[in-house]
Amino acid sequence: MPNAIPEHSLDRDCTTLARHVLQQLQSFGADAQDLSAIMGRIALAGKLIARRLSRAGLVDDALGFTGEMNVQGESVKKMDVYANEVFISVFKQSGLVCRLASEEMEKPYYIPENCPIGRYTLLYDPIDGSSNVDINLNVGSIFAIRQQSGDDLDGEAQDLLQQTGRTQIAAGYILYGPATILVYSLGAGVHSFFLDPSLGEFILAQENIRIPVHGPIYSANEGNFWQWDEAIRDYTRYVHRHEGYTARYSGALVGDIHRILTQGGVFLYPGTAKNPEGKLRLLYETAPLAFLVEQAGGKASDGRQSLLDLIPGRLHQRTPLFIGSPEDVSLVESFIQERERRSS
Ligand code: AHG
Ligand code: MN
Ligand code: MN
Repeated sequence: MPNAIPEHSLDRDCTTLARHVLQQLQSFGADAQDLSAIMGRIALAGKLIARRLSRAGLVDDALGFTGEMNVQGESVKKMDVYANEVFISVFKQSGLVCRLASEEMEKPYYIPENCPIGRYTLLYDPIDGSSNVDINLNVGSIFAIRQQSGDDLDGEAQDLLQQTGRTQIAAGYILYGPATILVYSLGAGVHSFFLDPSLGEFILAQENIRIPVHGPIYSANEGNFWQWDEAIRDYTRYVHRHEGYTARYSGALVGDIHRILTQGGVFLYPGTAKNPEGKLRLLYETAPLAFLVEQAGGKASDGRQSLLDLIPGRLHQRTPLFIGSPEDVSLVESFIQERERRSS
């Protein structure tokens, strides 16, 4: 039987990310090829970052701070800089993407040689949860792809300030934990992949992930309790007083969202007295995750409306974030509405 394939040659049915993207798009046309190639480059960035993280304690200059502050006024870690540059380098000469906008760069990074043909913009948070890097805990990368509208000749990226998150073509995250996982949506469900380091491929783990309608997790930095509005304190008191809730907060949004996507619950990063818009950035963090979680049947809100309906006032716009299982997000919103009703 010369043609027989031994049963143990494949551990399981291996659908790679590249194959999955093309299946999702149901096309081999030029647009589908472009999006597939973009997803392939994002995956490559993920592999490079995962490799660096796994060896961070063994190589020089991987851990710690650079001594610089970024445009967000936050101390920059060496890994933030490395990961930011990885995304730029994998997209250079790709012909796919004309601009990359990241929370680590004041202005978008333009790749002029791509601009006549590259019609897409990549928005990304290269390392999310970077305070976890030095203590060997999970971190992530968050990404979104948008179509570029207009030529953006003045370099101000005005078109990004005229669109809601609903114009995102794709969004997702890569979670660097004990294993590296990539979760993405092209607007038709949410799908997860595990990196098989021996193959260097992301292999399909779960298709059409659905978030539970309600779950036990609430995930918030309760150190900010007295900085929050009374409505968020009301919600927190509610979960303290009711059975069935449990707190989990890892310091990296990607890890906390991944848990909630799987087990259900809500992640909250409300505005604080000092920062009424909260901490998280609309274009690189909250809108991509909102797109993903809504695709899984979840909900994402700034407390008043869907995050996907917000138009950024500026590139690095921040927003409060309430995201997760639809019933749990609605419950937080109901506490906000109740306080507003009482004060009007
Ligand atoms: P980043 O590392 O990209 O700045 O993001 C950190 C974010 C998010 O991942 C996390 O949930 C949150 O900041 C933690 O902030 P606090 O320390 O204020 O809780
Ligand atoms: Mn982040
Ligand atoms: Mn970051």
